[in-house]
Amino acid sequence: MKMHRREFLNYGILGLGGLITLSILTPAATYFLSPIWKKGEEDWIFLGEADKIPLDSPTKVEFVQRRKDGWMTVEEKRSTWVVTKDGKEFSVFDPTCTHLGCPYNWSVSKKEFICPCHNGVFSMEGKVLAGPPPRPLDRYPNRVENGKLWILPVIKKG
Ligand code: FES
Repeated sequence: MKMHRREFLNYGILGLGGLITLSILTPAATYFLSPIWKKGEEDWIFLGEADKIPLDSPTKVEFVQRRKDGWMTVEEKRSTWVVTKDGKEFSVFDPTCTHLGCPYNWSVSKKEFICPCHNGVFSMEGKVLAGPPPRPLDRYPNRVENGKLWILPVIKKG
């Protein structure tokens, strides 16, 4: 099949136009969509030296979480309850009650976590002992590396 010169030029111009459009749209799409793709990235946070957490005594630890909000980085002050019985295995609890999200506290005298809003009571292991909470305390994944305690402050149910 023989292609006429005019037809060849038309295809050439179309192809060149397509390449130019693609070369403009690809970087633009990457720039605008990259925050969406990065949402799944995990950001572990250094909580402190593992040996500074007292044994058998829930400890409230504050930390700063940096999170990307579009193109801005926002810093949030947060806290967590950390429990360890042996200094090796740690439970790191979200500091809000699983009933309606009130902050709870550790009662040294009763040795229980107590939520003041509706008298929810949890054990040191986060189990529901009394009140309306529908499930145990939520936990954050944690790991100890070279004596340092790291957490991933996203809720992992129960
Ligand atoms: S919010 Fe904690 S018991 Fe209701």
